[in-house]
Amino acid sequence: MTVMEFSDWLSATSASQFIQVTTWVIPSLQTVHILTLALLFASALMVDLRVLGTGLRSESLRAVADRFIPTIWPCLVVLLITGSLLIVAEPARTLGNPAFYLKMICLAAAIIVTLWLRAFARGSRPVGGLASMLAVVSLLLWATIIVAGRYIAYIESN
Ligand code: HEM
Repeated sequence: MTVMEFSDWLSATSASQFIQVTTWVIPSLQTVHILTLALLFASALMVDLRVLGTGLRSESLRAVADRFIPTIWPCLVVLLITGSLLIVAEPARTLGNPAFYLKMICLAAAIIVTLWLRAFARGSRPVGGLASMLAVVSLLLWATIIVAGRYIAYIESN
């Protein structure tokens, strides 16, 4: 089964049909998706800026990481659920769209970098070049995910 065949099958299911004809569902899912990603990005930003030495310097890196990183995981679950429902609603918009696949690759990388930063914050090594580099990569990855998410609407699916 090709991606397009799967997409056609998915959009004909009763779940997809329900979302398509119930006008408030898609805007509601988009609203939750956007508010949740704002919370996730704000949390990642706090940790990254602390690693870079430009934010919350009165607190230890470990305290900042322990406060903000646990917010990221439930946000990801909500984004996964709302994002998956948006795919069910309009599969052809997303499946086969290069911006969506770029977003998913960057998301996997961002999760790994976040786990790495957490391990770093919990360890005893002083903050140095490697941690700073990870914080910059983390910011770039989250920013790319957000831009790619928005771009799904503007790039044609293959
Ligand atoms: C966890 C899995 C995720 C899935 C399956 C997913 C899926 C989707 C889908 C299907 C759309 C709708 C695209 C469209 O039709 O125009 C979307 C929009 C978007 N997503 Fe995600 N997403 C996920 C996570 C994330 C994360 C982690 C971020 C950012 C940190 C993010 C940022 C965005 C943005 C900015 C939009 C555009 C919203 C708009 O302007 O309407 N997504 N996502």
